[in-house]
Amino acid sequence: MENLTEKLKSCSSEILARLKFIAALAGEFNYPVYIVGGFVRDLILGVEDFDLDIVIEGDGIHFAKELSHRLKADFIKHRRFQTATIVIKDKTHPHPAPQEAAAVKPSSGAGGRFFSIGTKIDIATARKEIYEQPAALPRVSPGTIKDDLGRRDFSINAMAVSISEGAFGQLVDFYDSREDLRNRRIRVLHSLSFIDDPTRLLRIIRFEQRFNFSLEKTTLRLLKEAVNLKMLQKVHKHRLRDELILIFKEPQTVRCIKRVYALCGFEFIHPGLRLSSKMLAMLKKANETHMWFKNNFPHKRRLELWVLYLAVLLEGLPSLTLRKVLMEFAFHKSESKIVLSYKSDAQRISLKLKGAVSPSSIYKILEPLRYEVIILALAKTNEARIKNKLIDFLRLYNGSRIFTSGHELKALGVQPGPHFKEILKTLLYAKLDKKFHTKEEELSYLQNVILAKR
Ligand code: CTP
Repeated sequence: MENLTEKLKSCSSEILARLKFIAALAGEFNYPVYIVGGFVRDLILGVEDFDLDIVIEGDGIHFAKELSHRLKADFIKHRRFQTATIVIKDKTHPHPAPQEAAAVKPSSGAGGRFFSIGTKIDIATARKEIYEQPAALPRVSPGTIKDDLGRRDFSINAMAVSISEGAFGQLVDFYDSREDLRNRRIRVLHSLSFIDDPTRLLRIIRFEQRFNFSLEKTTLRLLKEAVNLKMLQKVHKHRLRDELILIFKEPQTVRCIKRVYALCGFEFIHPGLRLSSKMLAMLKKANETHMWFKNNFPHKRRLELWVLYLAVLLEGLPSLTLRKVLMEFAFHKSESKIVLSYKSDAQRISLKLKGAVSPSSIYKILEPLRYEVIILALAKTNEARIKNKLIDFLRLYNGSRIFTSGHELKALGVQPGPHFKEILKTLLYAKLDKKFHTKEEELSYLQNVILAKR
């Protein structure tokens, strides 16, 4: 059996320290302990992965509780699935040197300092799954590592590496997974896999596109059968939303979306939804414009690219339907607002911008909008005139400041009230339109504004 110790040693010292710590604690409990799932796949492929998925042949929850106690970490129990998540919150201590890490022993309270902020470890009891109903969440019961690997989605995600003392680094492969990985092939472990869990229809496309793997013949046939049975339509929309977001977050999103449409269609999002070549072009433009924004405005707020993709994908739906879809999938309010605003404002903004000449009028049109909508409007327009106005807003007008504040207004005898805001706005618009430049000029402009208001 293949041994992956050398590969494990090439992981970051932090990961290695974490593994040794877990292994030593599992030794105290006399529990066999394994790393499983995507981490093992990525380890073999040489892809860096920070998400540790640990399986214990024993009481995983009890083990996780003790681990969290010793690491002074947060402990979140998911009773239904016999799993727990540990979130290490230590913020102050440095990462260990490799030799230091290797020497870590899980004595009470000592471990926290070897981990960085927000590190997350998933820990589970090795388990069997029974799907009582297609597309519903399974009932789980304790099992062996073989059961645990056998319940998984695809063979490439169904390997484990033992980290138990004495077996450290040993690959555990009951399902010819290693061979599939070597052949860059994705295969389900049994014929009901997509029926039990139709979210796998979307997951498989993510892995296929991410690694440029192929779908094994029978797997592809099973996928098509599950699509024909409309299995995706039977899944709770919230689970579909999570899968869609993961697709939108893949590096090759546009390719992934195309493939999802080709294999599964978009009926699971909404029966009337189609993927047109215009939409595909817009998805690409959204990506490019987002990249441009990131590179040119590194200090501005980070934008969630995936929400831009969502907005483009749903743009063609009638407004009421769009609202309904966003509600059914329970996207966050702020995400839904962007999608709705893009649908209703993008075209309107371009028209309004055509007529806007002064910086303040451009500012008034764009300032109320979310950056995401502005980026999408920029991606959408082909007119240089409009593009330039959008870019001027981002580069020059937005973030422009005046010196005057409420203090100055009070000092000039203006009574506090709603008109404070009005005066400050008037001043800002005047500044954008270059009616003054220096602080002194601003003050005398302000005095005139106040006089005019009296
Ligand atoms: N899994 C599964 N069926 C699912 C979801 C997950 O069998 N519907 C299993 C797979 O073994 C997977 C593991 O749970 O490897 C962890 O799930 P997740 O973190 O979603 O997958 P990763 O393989 O780690 O994927 P990624 O690299 O995208 O994080």
